[in-house]
Amino acid sequence: MIKVAPSILSADYVNLQKDIEKVEKAGAEVLHIDIMDGQFVPALSYGPGWVKAIRPISKMVLDVHMMVQNPERYIDDFAEAGADIIGVHVEATAHIHRALQMIKNAGVKAEVVINPGTPVSLIEPLLPMVDQVLVMTVNPGFGGQKFLPETIKKIAKLDQLKQIEGYDFDIEIDGGVNDKTVVECAKAGATVAVAGSYVFNAEDPAARVQAIKDATK
Ligand code: DX5
Ligand code: ZN
Repeated sequence: MIKVAPSILSADYVNLQKDIEKVEKAGAEVLHIDIMDGQFVPALSYGPGWVKAIRPISKMVLDVHMMVQNPERYIDDFAEAGADIIGVHVEATAHIHRALQMIKNAGVKAEVVINPGTPVSLIEPLLPMVDQVLVMTVNPGFGGQKFLPETIKKIAKLDQLKQIEGYDFDIEIDGGVNDKTVVECAKAGATVAVAGSYVFNAEDPAARVQAIKDATK
């Protein structure tokens, strides 16, 4: 069964604590927090202050997805705010290895993220050092986009590398995930599913968390 990581990007910000409690009670293991800087992606979202505010109200793993150009500038801030995992895009820095080292040195789990147009081969040298790989299943920047099935091959490739090389990182998917699209991803080796609009743009977010789990039993 896949781990579920609801993305608060689609939550009700005025009632954020209620929304977080709903998905935590439903058994979601991870809370996905999307950081957007207006440069790497067009939109602005929120910063370390939100992570700090959420930390004491939830026991879920706080998974910070930095859609930020030159993320090195803010890694320590998110670590201090209470992030459990910090993800940096390989496309967002000339020094991805150093960025991942910074995350590990801060005592946080390190994640590398690849856009739909980025091949797995580009991150192969990093695989021994990461705790999680995030395969974007849409182009980053917005919630509510359509899942891109061509990304499934990359999940399978990563799963194959895990088996051949003995790596033990998690494989996370993000974008357009619902109870249908998650099925092939889980079969290909995805172990964590981010879902924003599918979970929070619903009458019953808890039922949607369960539906993703049921679909990957
Ligand atoms: C998109 C973000 C996602 C977003 C997913 O750039 O990284 O985490 O919240 O939203 P849905 O699940 O609606 O595609
Ligand atoms: Zn995300």
